[in-house]
Amino acid sequence: MTARGRDAAATGPHGRVPVAVLISGRGSNLKALIDAAKAADYPARIALVISNNAAAGGLGFARDAGIPTRVIPHRDFDCREAFDAALDDVLRQAGVSYICLAGFMRLLTPDFVTAWQDRILNIHPALLPAFRGLDTHARALEAGVRFTGCTAHLVRPEMDDGPIIAQAVVPVLPDDDAERLGARVLAAEHRCLPHALALLAGGLIEVRGQRALAHAKPASETYLFNPWLEPDKMA
Ligand code: GAR
Repeated sequence: MTARGRDAAATGPHGRVPVAVLISGRGSNLKALIDAAKAADYPARIALVISNNAAAGGLGFARDAGIPTRVIPHRDFDCREAFDAALDDVLRQAGVSYICLAGFMRLLTPDFVTAWQDRILNIHPALLPAFRGLDTHARALEAGVRFTGCTAHLVRPEMDDGPIIAQAVVPVLPDDDAERLGARVLAAEHRCLPHALALLAGGLIEVRGQRALAHAKPASETYLFNPWLEPDKMA
């Protein structure tokens, strides 16, 4: 069983599944989602953008697109449980079906994650299960890997764990530093996350244990392994 039937009633008058995007900073992945959701056949609509940080630059992308925003400053709460309870209230009042973490730099409590089981999508800037946590690009360079990338996955209580919906691979080039490599990975994230959200919100993902199976044959351009290094665009 996929989530298709379950979400059919939740699409409402807009005919698309309502999703909340959670951010903490720049919001370039949010921007990629906003752009993807402009397509007439995109199955999700971004109903709300929430940030734990009032200064998050990404809030501007939401406002420019006419998407409602909420700031829930984590410093206003004594503990993670209280923050997550407030977050849960806002999400339920907004009536969203899915939560997309797009550079949301807060760990969610196990109770929250369990309450939203298989409904929270995260983008991580490495090929999980390699390089969980922070500073992924510096660590990838130090480890000497030839490829790295990004992972869009369902969230589980353990950090950077959960069924993988999509991954994109990028090469590590000889003159990379963490910034250059990070920019290459970020460009891949901007394709990977909207693709994964479309599968999830479209009701096409079936979770079997640790695996997320997509009930859709990807278009050839969504086979993200071995990406073409366009000669004209190489530095
Ligand atoms: C992205 O690279 C995302 O993968 C990462 O933060 C960046 C946010 O950029 N997320 C994490 O590291 C989560 N552990 P953005 O604000 O421009 O989308």
